[in-house]
Amino acid sequence: MPDKKRILVTSALPYANGPIHLGHLAGAYLTPDFYVRYKRRTDADVAFICGSDEHGVPITIAAEKEGVTPQDIVDRYHGMNKKVFEDFGISFDYYGRTSSKVHHQTSQEFFTTLYEKGFFKKKTEEQLYDPKSEMFLPDRYVKGTCPNCGYEEAYGDQCEKCGTSLSPTELINPVSALSGERPELKKTEHWYMPLGDVQPKLEKWLETRENWKPNVMGQVKSWLNDGLADRAATRDLSWGVPVPLEEAKGKVLYVWFDAPIGYVSATKEWAQEQGNPELWKDYWQNEDTELYHFIGKDNIVFHCIMFPVVLMEHGDYVLPKNVPANEFLNLEGKKLSTSRGWAVWLYEYLEDFEPDLLRYALGTTLPESKDSDFSWKDFQMHINTELADVLGNFTNRSLSFTVNYADGKVPELIEPSDVDQEALQAIEDQKDKITQAYENFRFKEAIAETMNLARIGNRYFTETEPWKTRKTEPIKAGNTLHVSLQISAALSCLFDPILPAKMKELRAQLGLSDDFSWDDITPNMLEVGQTVSQGDILFEKIEDETIEEQIQKLHDKAAAADPAPDVPELKDNIDFGDFMKLDLRAGEILKAEKIEKADKLLKLTVDIGLEKRTIVSGISKHFKPEDLPGQKVSVVANLAPKKLMGVESQGMILMAETPNGELKFVETDAEPGSPIT
Ligand code: 2FM
Ligand code: ZN
Repeated sequence: MPDKKRILVTSALPYANGPIHLGHLAGAYLTPDFYVRYKRRTDADVAFICGSDEHGVPITIAAEKEGVTPQDIVDRYHGMNKKVFEDFGISFDYYGRTSSKVHHQTSQEFFTTLYEKGFFKKKTEEQLYDPKSEMFLPDRYVKGTCPNCGYEEAYGDQCEKCGTSLSPTELINPVSALSGERPELKKTEHWYMPLGDVQPKLEKWLETRENWKPNVMGQVKSWLNDGLADRAATRDLSWGVPVPLEEAKGKVLYVWFDAPIGYVSATKEWAQEQGNPELWKDYWQNEDTELYHFIGKDNIVFHCIMFPVVLMEHGDYVLPKNVPANEFLNLEGKKLSTSRGWAVWLYEYLEDFEPDLLRYALGTTLPESKDSDFSWKDFQMHINTELADVLGNFTNRSLSFTVNYADGKVPELIEPSDVDQEALQAIEDQKDKITQAYENFRFKEAIAETMNLARIGNRYFTETEPWKTRKTEPIKAGNTLHVSLQISAALSCLFDPILPAKMKELRAQLGLSDDFSWDDITPNMLEVGQTVSQGDILFEKIEDETIEEQIQKLHDKAAAADPAPDVPELKDNIDFGDFMKLDLRAGEILKAEKIEKADKLLKLTVDIGLEKRTIVSGISKHFKPEDLPGQKVSVVANLAPKKLMGVESQGMILMAETPNGELKFVETDAEPGSPIT
């Protein structure tokens, strides 16, 4: 007998710096749970691994903000997040944490192996150092003026105003976010992963990957096209896994070096917990294992480029067969934002609703290939018109008819009609489609096809009219109940990966065991004469009022949130005279062209009434040139001309930046040339 197929599934380790919200769930946790719940019913041997990512700047910043230690932060959120995943039925086999001893040892072992193989490049570089706090500053800890747009609160890794990615040494007037002091440049040494050197090897491996989602491969290709750069595997920080080198005292591993190794350490801990400490090797070091990383799109580069390189260079480990990353989930049409209070926390959701409802509703709205949107009205619609009206209604009427008119026993199927047989056949047909969808990570499709079986059942029940036939043609009525109960039974198993708690209830009503395999799902799951019972209604409808309350709650949270982090502070007052010096005019863009080698800039030809001007504007990342002709704009017309990338810019276009970081034109429908006063 060949061994069972071994499948190792990982979900991105969430940072233990805050609670889990809807976007997290839809991104990296729900789909792998659907997948493993399906796979465990097949002949696969599955391990589903996750845990808390407890290192890195996101943790130290959260600690800083609250004035507590990083350990306090991770202890609080590790427990909270582990519990909320359990409450949602996310069936991890093990939920580890990267502060554990096993993880420290495992990630140090990885570093040492790569070090001994001569993989790392040691570089000496100058980095900003805060003499007052006596530490090198991570990029996020340096603030200053953006060299690109002049925004004074830019971070050392990125200007949140113009989106430019920066290195801290590029900032004008940098200050330490810790002490407010001007940091000084100080020499430091770091160990770099030479990703560029291994790019050809990585590309070869990527070519052997099959069925990767286009959104994932597309992003990977674009990184490769730009050429991979060296990336430091070490950091000057006090919170993290110490670098296991005498000469690297005081340094820790880069969080993105240690975090994915957390999958390995958590598997080791799981094996230990089972009293079989070597078991993890069957999963990580046996080439027959299929390894799948489920992540959100912001983690693609780490899981498709960096971690595979680490695994490859180490040499003892399997590499991922697929990385089915999701895109992002928006909420009520807007980007989720924890700082702006635009989020639904899972613990909060659970105060009002059952977990299965969200599993289903989010499952129908997954950002599988592009960003998608969750709205409370949609949630209500999915629950009321699908779970309640179709699935719940169908199984409920099948059971209640049987209890009321067939003595609660599955009737015999006698000389079934074509319609009866077609309905039974639908179980097989739908099961095939559902299986294919699960196998190919198309979860929305799996859900839709499962619900389609309930629709077929519901329609069949209505068409065969057992409320009439039970008086005139009892055999026909019996056939309707037999077929409907068999469909209900199949549904109670086919929907199990999505609605585990509800389907368990349904199986109890049908007298079915929870211990079933995918192969057991047939049109004959119930025996003739088997007793069924009718329990509580499976899915209650959700009232409009309840949904209005949720929408209100969301808006209240957004209103209460501190807007300061996203809205730049007001500048100092100016004199009226200074203001009057500005010559603002209405204008219209006539032409827009890209400028060679300047990926942020567009060269615009703008009609300002009196004349046509050439204006260079940093909007290329936000607008396509072909969409711009005809756009009405406001122009600063008396700004001294300035050369940008070889083009003389004769003015400036006014833009507004939304809290989401989008740029919008300051439009006016006045004739070009009209003064704006
Ligand atoms: O983006 C994040 O939330 C990271 N903590 C994910 C880490 S995934 C893995 F590498 F551990
Ligand atoms: Zn900027």
